[in-house]
Amino acid sequence: MTASALRRVRVAEIERVAEEVKRFRLVDATGGALPAFSAGSHVIVTMHGADGHLWKNPYSLISAPDDGSGYEISVLRTATSRGGSMFMHDHVHPGTELQISEPVNLFPIARQGRKHILIAGGIGITPFLAMMQELAARDADFELHYKVRGLARGAFCERLLDEYGSRVHIYSSDLGQKLPLERILSEQPLGSHMYVCGPAAMINWALQLGRSVGWPPENLHSERFTAPPTGHAFTIKLARSGGEIAVGPQQSILEALEQHGIDAPFLCRGGACGQCETRVIASDGALQHNDHYLTDEEKTSGEKIMLCVSRAAGGCLTLDL
Ligand code: FES
Repeated sequence: MTASALRRVRVAEIERVAEEVKRFRLVDATGGALPAFSAGSHVIVTMHGADGHLWKNPYSLISAPDDGSGYEISVLRTATSRGGSMFMHDHVHPGTELQISEPVNLFPIARQGRKHILIAGGIGITPFLAMMQELAARDADFELHYKVRGLARGAFCERLLDEYGSRVHIYSSDLGQKLPLERILSEQPLGSHMYVCGPAAMINWALQLGRSVGWPPENLHSERFTAPPTGHAFTIKLARSGGEIAVGPQQSILEALEQHGIDAPFLCRGGACGQCETRVIASDGALQHNDHYLTDEEKTSGEKIMLCVSRAAGGCLTLDL
């Protein structure tokens, strides 16, 4: 995917679904139908701030995968983020036009799975909303285990309990309720798949626990939406096309390129898919690798960098671009 493959959409409806969480319904700006997607897909939403600031944030599609009349996303307002979620909450209203990418699925349902165990933490519930609709439509066996800080902060709790009843288990840390994941995983039939989405620490814990109780790695699935970490400003030199671009403290390399009208490939923008891997030709500052894609050896070699989340500690970075 590159920045050029964008679709204009209009915000048709906004609903507050929990403390600091809003649901947005997006319809095609020209009145057409939107393509069907597979459950687990996300889109990249492009936002243009009044001061020329550009944000491109990935959001899971939460509506019914076969509903072409509109897409729905859900956004947690994060005051400590770089501004995209605050822009969605504070400056986007019914009628606002946005641009979105085509849906991309990096978190698909394993069709051959005998049973599906969905583990969500906080806003990590979002990909599961579409997945549960698809699993229920296929009459597949599944359970949702959803960890929230408090019932007021857990988006869609009531709706999920209404729609899926005993398949939904909610754990509120305010009430001291713990997610008994080891027991849950130990009770599942062979051929089950686990899917986890939420804070990084929760994902790491669930994957590690899955491996430790003997689940095959290919049956453990996760999705991370990592915002690009901030850092020091630095400069990138483009070895093939020439030119130098400054990367600001709040910007990723990918965002700096896009701000200068340079299309670079991406899919997840979260350091997971590998699409933006780029060869490093020279660097006079240390590389800060923030992705989950390169191996430790590749990171140590300093020969590659993921443009969406990784950066230099300062100085100049020469890239094969
Ligand atoms: S866009 Fe997926 S790793 Fe950078």
